[in-house]
Amino acid sequence: MAFLIGLLVNAILLSIPIGASLGTMIAIRPFRNDRVPLTESQNAILEMTFCDASHTFHQFSQNKNGVNFTINSNEILTELESILCLTVIQNQNNTYVSNSTAPEFSITWEYPFTPANTSSPLNETKPLIHAFPQATLQDAKNLPITLENLGKLGLDFSWTMGIGDENAPLTSPRRLGAQETNATVALDLYLDADPTKAAEGGKAAFEMIIFFAMYGLEDPVGFGNGTIVTTTTLDGNTFNLFVGQNDALQNVFSWVATEPITDFTGDISPLFNNILNLSTVKGFADLGVSLPTVKDYLGYVGFGTQAYNSLGHVTFWVPKLHVDLRSFAEL
Ligand SMILES: *[C@@H]1O[C@H](CO)[C@@H](O)[C@H](O)[C@H]1NC(C)=O
Ligand SMILES: *[C@@H]1O[C@H](CO)[C@@H](O)[C@H](O)[C@H]1NC(C)=O
Ligand SMILES: *[C@@H]1O[C@H](CO)[C@@H](O)[C@H](O)[C@H]1NC(C)=O
Ligand SMILES: *[C@@H]1O[C@H](CO)[C@@H](O)[C@H](O)[C@H]1NC(C)=O
Ligand SMILES: *[C@@H]1O[C@H](CO)[C@@H](O)[C@H](O)[C@H]1NC(C)=O
Ligand SMILES: *[C@@H]1O[C@H](CO)[C@@H](O)[C@H](O)[C@H]1NC(C)=O
Ligand SMILES: *[C@@H]1O[C@H](CO)[C@@H](O)[C@H](O)[C@H]1NC(C)=O
Ligand SMILES: *[C@@H]1O[C@H](CO)[C@@H](O)[C@H](O)[C@H]1NC(C)=O
Repeated sequence: MAFLIGLLVNAILLSIPIGASLGTMIAIRPFRNDRVPLTESQNAILEMTFCDASHTFHQFSQNKNGVNFTINSNEILTELESILCLTVIQNQNNTYVSNSTAPEFSITWEYPFTPANTSSPLNETKPLIHAFPQATLQDAKNLPITLENLGKLGLDFSWTMGIGDENAPLTSPRRLGAQETNATVALDLYLDADPTKAAEGGKAAFEMIIFFAMYGLEDPVGFGNGTIVTTTTLDGNTFNLFVGQNDALQNVFSWVATEPITDFTGDISPLFNNILNLSTVKGFADLGVSLPTVKDYLGYVGFGTQAYNSLGHVTFWVPKLHVDLRSFAEL
């Protein structure tokens, strides 16, 4: 039976044509639990790596007793000399430790530095983003949800970012810096008066993004002119808010942690209240951003890493992720 698992998983692993010019192949990792038979008990643990040349993955994970997740590659800007892979560890029985648990996953990537402004000296331009792979919440029961009905958006996660293909036990900003890595870790949320647009993200009127860490030269989305609009604390961490419109004219609200947050447990729904109340902040009207209302829908929740550039492979590992979204009625 262990052999059968091998067949199954290897079928997926076969599509690994990592650009030879990039050097190191991602090692095909052994399964964590190949002693548990695949059938009968249904309790096998399947480790799968998606690493094809097109950088496309869209891996659905069902959590039978709760919410599901899809892990997307979300590549924005392709490059010939690049790599973007997903490893995900799913339980065959589709049952996880809680109803809000996502499967453990890691993303390995490498992209070159692509200047945002080609007429500017290289050392004076910001990098362009290449991908924002993320685990998105699939909750047919509660999403989209109006802000007035949103009772809680509990987040409980831990992650590391390291150089190379292996999951790093800890994040070393020094090592990332030595490899000239520009990357972030963020929660991406979209809102709109139209629930369909809110769910699709790209056409939503509002984006709220919470940066738990930023390594490198990139500006947060909607950085505007760099004005800190307001500051708040969650789970003992301080976040500064920047606002602005992006190229798609979406109104973007970026909360940026003042220190990297690799472990977090808390309810982030107060951040929506902060935004709903921004009209009372002095000078806000001059920033050229419109605000959502309590009648608008939150339709999209995704947690992942923004990949800008790096001189070698980077692995973002998420051993723990729970997204506990509840309506007021469920509190
Ligand atoms: C599902 O499989 C996992 C991994 O083997 C195991 O830890 C868990 O106990 C199983 N859950 C149920 C309800 O069988
Ligand atoms: C998970 O959901 C199931 C089905 O709705 C429910 O019976 C169970 O109590 C829930 N478990 C937890 C830990 O909330
Ligand atoms: C790009 O860089 C050039 C040269 O530094 C500068 O004049 C120009 O304003 C920049 N363009 C943008 C859109 O920032
Ligand atoms: C970029 O490099 C040029 C030439 O070496 C230097 O004059 C300039 O100060 C540098 N700019 C920054 C922002 O470091
Ligand atoms: C999770 O996925 C299953 C299978 O597609 C579906 O039946 C179920 O409704 C989904 N659960 C939620 C909360 O969206
Ligand atoms: C960000 O990218 C630039 C350009 O490759 C690089 O010089 C820098 O070291 C990177 N990382 C950091 C932490 O700034
Ligand atoms: C937002 O404003 C309302 C009405 O003034 C107030 O009740 C609420 O406490 C404010 N919330 C925050 C987070 O400031
Ligand atoms: C940013 O824009 C606001 C509103 O126009 C203005 O009050 C503020 O002075 C500006 N800040 C900077 C650093 O330009």
